[in-house]
Amino acid sequence: MTPASVAVLVSGSGTNLAALLDALRASPLARVERVVSSRADAVALEVARRAGVATAVLADPGDAAAWVAAAGDARLVVLAGYLKRVPPGAVARFRWRLINIHPALLPAFGGVGMYGRRVHQAVLESGAAVSGATVHYVDEEYDRGPTIAQWPVPVRPGDTPDSLARRVLEVEHRLLPAAVLALARLGVPERPVRLFATGSAFVMGDTGVLELE
Ligand code: GRF
Repeated sequence: MTPASVAVLVSGSGTNLAALLDALRASPLARVERVVSSRADAVALEVARRAGVATAVLADPGDAAAWVAAAGDARLVVLAGYLKRVPPGAVARFRWRLINIHPALLPAFGGVGMYGRRVHQAVLESGAAVSGATVHYVDEEYDRGPTIAQWPVPVRPGDTPDSLARRVLEVEHRLLPAAVLALARLGVPERPVRLFATGSAFVMGDTGVLELE
């Protein structure tokens, strides 16, 4: 079986990219073939280069044709800390093959302007007892596409946006590779798929397995 080729889109520090590269390194299911950044100074580009993965920088992230060309022949396109809007032409081209990771339990705490520290700040201000990470399909609206998988993270007394962000990020680093591998195992079907944690989603165990129900 040929591994599903994965393109990863980044804008920032690339810790989710690093987690994906680690998890996929020896996998027969999927391989990160290219990393595309919306900015030339993203640390994530260094992460990619160190791993020997081809990189590209988008001169204009709003240019759909350039976006599609940069993603190339990827079977699955993963937004991992990508902060620009995906042009509608690119969304259409990669329908059900374009996914994002968000550091909260969507549909809560998502949408325009909800990224980075602001997400965790809003969660704490709301008084929610649980936050988490969501992997979802990207459609024409910010953070609105169907959910693929979620993992809850309890909010602790005394949490700050930074402490909550750290714990959510640890979960992101397990959830995103698990979701990518699960989709690859299914052949990246061109229809929405929902994945579930085995057992209690609060008990991650060592493997963090996701399965179809
Ligand atoms: C993560 O919290 C991700 O959910 C969000 O941006 C952050 C990116 O972190 N979209 P990194 O670039 O993967 O380190």
